[in-house]
Amino acid sequence: MSAFDLTGRLAVVTGAGRGIGRATARALAGAGADVIGVSASLEASGSAVEEDVLAAGRTFEAIRTDFADPGAVRALGADLAARERPVDILINNAGTIRRAPAAEHPDADWELVLQVNLGAQFALTRAVGASMVARGRGKIVFTASLLSFQGGITVPGYTAAKHGIAGLTKALANEWAPHGVNVNAIAPGYIATDNTQALREDPVRSRSILERIPAGRWGSADDLAGATVFLASDAAAYVHGAVLPVDGGWLAR
Ligand SMILES: NC(=O)c1ccc[n+]([C@@H]2O[C@H](COP(=O)([O-])OP(=O)(O)OC[C@H]3O[C@@H](n4cnc5c(N)ncnc54)[C@H](OP(=O)(O)O)[C@@H]3O)[C@@H](O)[C@H]2O)c1
Repeated sequence: MSAFDLTGRLAVVTGAGRGIGRATARALAGAGADVIGVSASLEASGSAVEEDVLAAGRTFEAIRTDFADPGAVRALGADLAARERPVDILINNAGTIRRAPAAEHPDADWELVLQVNLGAQFALTRAVGASMVARGRGKIVFTASLLSFQGGITVPGYTAAKHGIAGLTKALANEWAPHGVNVNAIAPGYIATDNTQALREDPVRSRSILERIPAGRWGSADDLAGATVFLASDAAAYVHGAVLPVDGGWLAR
């Protein structure tokens, strides 16, 4: 059996309804994993991501949870941690972004982005990670960002949260590596999803971003699939606390 094979594993993918999360769910199912998809508005049945996973011959369950609601995230964590079939892989991908200049950045935007992109990530990972630690195995992959390394423009809350994700990845890896749990992150570059629609529609920002990407193109959500399957698999058994850029070379520039 290949070290990259995920047959029989159960993966939870947050933000699974569209964009990077949907592509991730499809890739994990392609490698053999059953999938529980979570997002704020995921349909109970018939979603596009469900169709993708079923087409790969794997099972799919949809859970709708709003990560802006700390109580709902706690309930999700308790539900997943208590299940008879344990979660083998947790992909912490759900995220949101609010753009406004720092000097007038509204409290509500800051608080929402910190809660959805950092607070909820920790609360869910604490619950699911504890059950992985108790079993002595598990794979956790966060979706970080180039803004885990750089400052960005007009997105101070998003940048603070994504720097926090890089720190959390390392903090949890230090504690959980001795217990057989791998905690890592992927830092996507500029990927064409709803998250970056405003940038792609701004001709000036869009051109300056593109000119800086050594690969010469925006990424697609599918560009992240290989790295995700790798970090979710036994092939990454000795990889702990890494934040892996998949960015067309942006950070190397
Ligand atoms: N696109 C990029 O260039 C890029 C680069 C670096 C990092 N990222 C990160 O990649 C991750 C996925 O982003 P994407 O580009 O795929 O964006 P997207 O297409 O906007 O998808 C975001 C996903 O997160 C879910 N989500 C948002 N707010 C939520 C909430 N309050 N509660 C639960 N789920 C929520 C959405 O659920 P619904 O569909 O139900 O609304 C959706 O499934 C995010 O963490 C983002 O920060 C993206």
